[in-house]
Amino acid sequence: MIDPEALRAQLGRLIGADRLLLQPSDVAPYLVDHRALYRGRTWAVALPRSVEEVARIVAWCNEQRVGLVPQGGNTGYCGGATPDESGRQLLLSLRHLNRIRALDAANFSMTAEAGCVLASVQQAADGIERFFPLSLGSEGSCQIGGNLATNAGGLNVVRYGMTRELVLGIEAVLPDGRVFDGLKSLRKDNTGYDLKSLLIGSEGTLGVITAATLKLWPQLRSSATALIGIAAPADAIALLGLLRAAAGERLSSFELLPRIALELTMRHVDGVTDPLGTPYPWYLLCELTATAPEPLSELLQQTLAGAAERSLLLDAAFAGSERERAALWRLRESVPEAQRRSGASLKHDISIPVAQLPRFIDEASAWVGRHVADGVLVCYGHAGDGNLHFNVNHLDSADAAARRAFLAREPVIRRAIHDLVASYHGSISAEHGIGRLKREELQRYASPVGLDAMRAIKRALDPNGIMNPGKLL
Ligand code: FAD
Ligand code: MLT
Ligand code: ZN
Repeated sequence: MIDPEALRAQLGRLIGADRLLLQPSDVAPYLVDHRALYRGRTWAVALPRSVEEVARIVAWCNEQRVGLVPQGGNTGYCGGATPDESGRQLLLSLRHLNRIRALDAANFSMTAEAGCVLASVQQAADGIERFFPLSLGSEGSCQIGGNLATNAGGLNVVRYGMTRELVLGIEAVLPDGRVFDGLKSLRKDNTGYDLKSLLIGSEGTLGVITAATLKLWPQLRSSATALIGIAAPADAIALLGLLRAAAGERLSSFELLPRIALELTMRHVDGVTDPLGTPYPWYLLCELTATAPEPLSELLQQTLAGAAERSLLLDAAFAGSERERAALWRLRESVPEAQRRSGASLKHDISIPVAQLPRFIDEASAWVGRHVADGVLVCYGHAGDGNLHFNVNHLDSADAAARRAFLAREPVIRRAIHDLVASYHGSISAEHGIGRLKREELQRYASPVGLDAMRAIKRALDPNGIMNPGKLL
């Protein structure tokens, strides 16, 4: 049995009572995940303001054997930042650890604390005429610490890579309360195991990330963006090859959308319109960018004209201004919100080798068509990275009983889709992580040798199992 009052009093003495939230109404928003799949309980939310305070909290939790759940912007999709229902775990919010510690234009780097909201990191880079390329629909609320902890992907991976590739150094409090100061801003550092890489993507199970030194790039000076209507995903893959050959690393985004995704955004999100007028079965949102003034619009138009001659596309709308570019991106970035508003949805964040996307989509869509009569497939995502959000939305979520019946079939639907992904040597979590949602899936699909190694690492760093218990492993 735990005694919440005694724990609150002890921790309050250690870091100051003003660093704790205790009132149920203050604590409540921290206890439910973004998708409202999980509702947890806690005896307090700790809001440290310095690394030293984080270290004291973690060391104390380790001594007391109190489970600790780190939380960033709470936009994660896998329930990783929500405590369990026992009420024994402490929720640690990083939101007040939010200083930009250093900006170094000459070194193309910056050091940001974990609680900095991603959009503010992007703005800080912009302020020194540099560019931080991580971009996600949730960037107004997710935090850089959460992005690192989940190794977030997003909209620019085709050019810049996942979060792991954007990080030079990391500072973290390890489960025994010691601070690992790995805040190097070096491009080359082969001094043994790469602890930074281990902590990135560890979803709060190996320590609390408190700050990171991030890579910056030159600011973008030109861009060309188009929404392209296509007949089928096979054309997307052919177009990807053509654009890569023509534009090289200037290709920074390559997103695939089905018609239903546009219809949902137009129905549920104010101000979204279809720039093409005529409906097409599928769309691509492509963007070329460059750090010097370059005629990218011509390059994109010429490449697409060549593709049209080969019947690889049906139509295209080019952004003629920054406003039109923003409208195209709004259309794409609103899809998750539109899907959420349209009712219950079963999400599958999968990846497979890019060239096999069309065959996978055919096979998996046919399965959904045969087995989920009350669902509609909304399959979109970062096709340039082989990453699909293969989501199935309920058709009639106003009927509560029908909705429950739909959700009850999730395990069967998930199993079929993930088994198919496995047969393509794909991943059952391309960018959203494992958290609590996919823990059993990881056991089923990960290599047993890899899982053993992961468990050994977890035991070695966190022998008392205090860091985010019940998540990932
Ligand atoms: P949280 O949700 O707070 O936490 C996520 C996990 O990280 C938890 O396990 C938590 O314990 C751990 N954690 C958080 N902070 C720390 C820390 N400082 N130290 C240690 N562990 C920590 N994701 C993508 O990858 N690509 C997308 O394109 C994308 N688009 C999205 C669009 C929308 C509209 C939404 C709502 C979400 C989207 N996401 C996407 C998912 C989500 O935004 C990312 O996973 C994001 O990186 C989570 O950051 P967060 O700060 O909200 O983390
Ligand atoms: C996206 O790419 O929009 C997200 O990762 C998927 C989602 O929010 O469901
Ligand atoms: Zn995504």
